[in-house]
Amino acid sequence: MYIRYALLPLLICSVWRISNADFPDDPKPCKFGDDECLLKAVNFYLSDKNQGDSAINLLKIDPLDAGTFTLKQGADNPVNIDLTFIKNKITGVAHAQAYKVRGFGKDLAKKHELRFKVPVASLIGDYKIQGRVLILPISGSGKNNITMLNADFVLQWVGVPVEKDGATYMKTDKFRAIVKPNKVIFDFQNLFNGDKALGDNMNLFLNENWKEIYQEVEATFSKEISRLMGNVVDAVFSKTPYNKLFTE
Ligand SMILES: *[C@@H]1O[C@H](CO)[C@@H](O)[C@H](O)[C@H]1NC(C)=O
Repeated sequence: MYIRYALLPLLICSVWRISNADFPDDPKPCKFGDDECLLKAVNFYLSDKNQGDSAINLLKIDPLDAGTFTLKQGADNPVNIDLTFIKNKITGVAHAQAYKVRGFGKDLAKKHELRFKVPVASLIGDYKIQGRVLILPISGSGKNNITMLNADFVLQWVGVPVEKDGATYMKTDKFRAIVKPNKVIFDFQNLFNGDKALGDNMNLFLNENWKEIYQEVEATFSKEISRLMGNVVDAVFSKTPYNKLFTE
């Protein structure tokens, strides 16, 4: 009897340890440049803290507020459009999986990189478009849903030290996003003043030619994604001194 009771705390303790390992709380800081640990931490924040986390100043990332922005392509471009997205949101970030990290060593003034696979990501909101896509004129305004399937997202930047209250923080510079989807599904509602036949045909045309269209708008689109992701990364690194985010 006595032995049993003596074992009980031990048992509880080990059960607690196991469950604690299975359902970790906020991850402990990683060592500088510890890729494996960093991957786990990034994936933890994606899956468990995508509504934001004030402890590390992580913004809400799913849905991610994309706001209002314009993609403009000149007349010399095969996709010659003036496309404004109004109050858009990006959904699907919570299901992104980080699969590679580079950088995050002791010296913050280096190149840093995060690579993700994103199964489904949608840009949802209102749009206004005017122009010409390949050979066809396009115009309209309404609701948009632009969905990317199995996209590869690469985020790269160079760290710049910023001194604040006697501590060193990292600011991002030359922030770059490279987004390579396996497929893009366009859905612009209410094209051509709501002419359904014309609108359906145009969406069909866009979807059949998604690869060429995406290739043409990729540079301007990536710039917007860089702006959004750069904000998220900068928010985190502006709150905590760089060396406090990692351990020796
Ligand atoms: C957006 O389009 C995708 C792909 O067609 C679809 O699966 C998803 O449900 C749509 N989202 C909304 C909010 O309409």
